[in-house]
Amino acid sequence: MAATLIAFEGLDGSGKSTQIQIVGDILRDNGYVVHTTREPTNGRWGKLFRRWAAGEIEASKEVVLELLLADRADHVRSLAGLPENAVILCDRYEASTLAYQVASEIPEEDVLRAMNSYTRRPADLQIYLDLPVYAAWERAVSRPEQERYERYDFLKKVYEEYAKNTDLVRVNALGTQGAVAARILDVVLPFLESRVKGT
Ligand SMILES: Nc1ncnc2c1ncn2[C@@H]1O[C@H](COP(=O)(O)OP(=O)(O)O)[C@@H](O)[C@H]1O
Ligand SMILES: [Mg+2]
Repeated sequence: MAATLIAFEGLDGSGKSTQIQIVGDILRDNGYVVHTTREPTNGRWGKLFRRWAAGEIEASKEVVLELLLADRADHVRSLAGLPENAVILCDRYEASTLAYQVASEIPEEDVLRAMNSYTRRPADLQIYLDLPVYAAWERAVSRPEQERYERYDFLKKVYEEYAKNTDLVRVNALGTQGAVAARILDVVLPFLESRVKGT
């Protein structure tokens, strides 16, 4: 069996990075081999995407989508080298592309077609940190700099797109960091145990 890939999804400010750190540490304490990663990556395409997101360069929405998918292709290749007992916690993955690029007004079928033109490595579990837009917004704007996507009206659209995705396991992201981590572990620990046992 290949390594286990768990994607963390949610709006900007929903707590993905915070939770990957907390949950990753707890899984390590429980004896799991944990590898944390994120998309877009720091690879060449991911870096270009970040420059666009920061407003440094211009690109059409179609080019932005291709940057994200080229970045994922490199990422997937690099993850293939991990041992099969590894648990990969990935900050944003395919569901982010679906939600954000459809919210950017690329038709959903076009996003899916572009995604399917690459060799896909779907996540084994997708955790969605469910936070009302206003709460995610408050957390995201407390950071020093806002990216192109971090506009209230846009995040509302992203929220609506995530809401349509029936493959996500939704976790209430309101409350303390510890409370949210406990909710995530209630999903992740039984999932990992059942994979080891092959059930
Ligand atoms: N449960 C929580 N309650 C209040 N603030 C939180 C919580 N979790 C994270 N934060 C804060 O909210 C901000 C966004 O969290 P972050 O983990 O960076 O979100 P994301 O990676 O999804 O954008 C950070 O300043 C973080 O410290
Ligand atoms: Mg983050």
